[in-house]
Amino acid sequence: MPLRSTDTGWGALVRAFHWAIALLIVLQAVLGLTMVQLGVTPEKVRVFALHKSIGLGILALVLLRIAWRLSERRPADPAGTPRWQRRAAHLAQLALYVLMVAIPLSGWWFNSAANAPLTWFGMLQVPSLTGGYDPLWKPRALLVHQSLFWLLVAVLSVHVGAALWHHFKQRDDVLRRMLSGKSRGGGG
Ligand code: HEM
Repeated sequence: MPLRSTDTGWGALVRAFHWAIALLIVLQAVLGLTMVQLGVTPEKVRVFALHKSIGLGILALVLLRIAWRLSERRPADPAGTPRWQRRAAHLAQLALYVLMVAIPLSGWWFNSAANAPLTWFGMLQVPSLTGGYDPLWKPRALLVHQSLFWLLVAVLSVHVGAALWHHFKQRDDVLRRMLSGKSRGGGG
């Protein structure tokens, strides 16, 4: 199980980043959407704190993932993939990277403009991005956080739909090599 990616498969580290971040984003989306509906209770405060800490964790993991990804080659696309499909896939992946950075940053920005407390799992004090309460930018930052999240849902639907289409309709190795790192033709 090679750590680095090859021409035929994704390396172990890219796959670990991919599935860990995917899982955390699903958890984070569920937390975000449910916590805003809670009544004002100590539990709400705890769930908000958890959402913020997981979000900052996702940001750190995504930045590490981007750094690692830039140092690696990318496995070849299946033979015969039309140019437009290759372009669309790469564009969607680029959009996912941008959104995975921008969403946590906008949450951090909103939290700063609201002057709400921010620690990472109660262990690390996280600085404010705005230097205090900012009534002008607070609602805008929230709108950005919410809108980018729904954009992420849209791009992810295309991304997941395309992966399933490759697997069940095209019957190629695109999904398999992100799951096991190997193409059926060996290598990886
Ligand atoms: C990938 C990372 C993140 C995702 C997917 C995400 C997603 C969400 C979602 C879906 C909501 C509910 C929006 C609504 O319907 O009103 C939300 C709310 C919120 N998020 Fe995030 N979030 C992320 C990271 C962060 C981070 C890093 C912070 C702060 C450091 C943060 C702070 C907040 C706050 C304070 C709210 C509540 C807004 C309100 O009071 O209405 N988020 N987030």
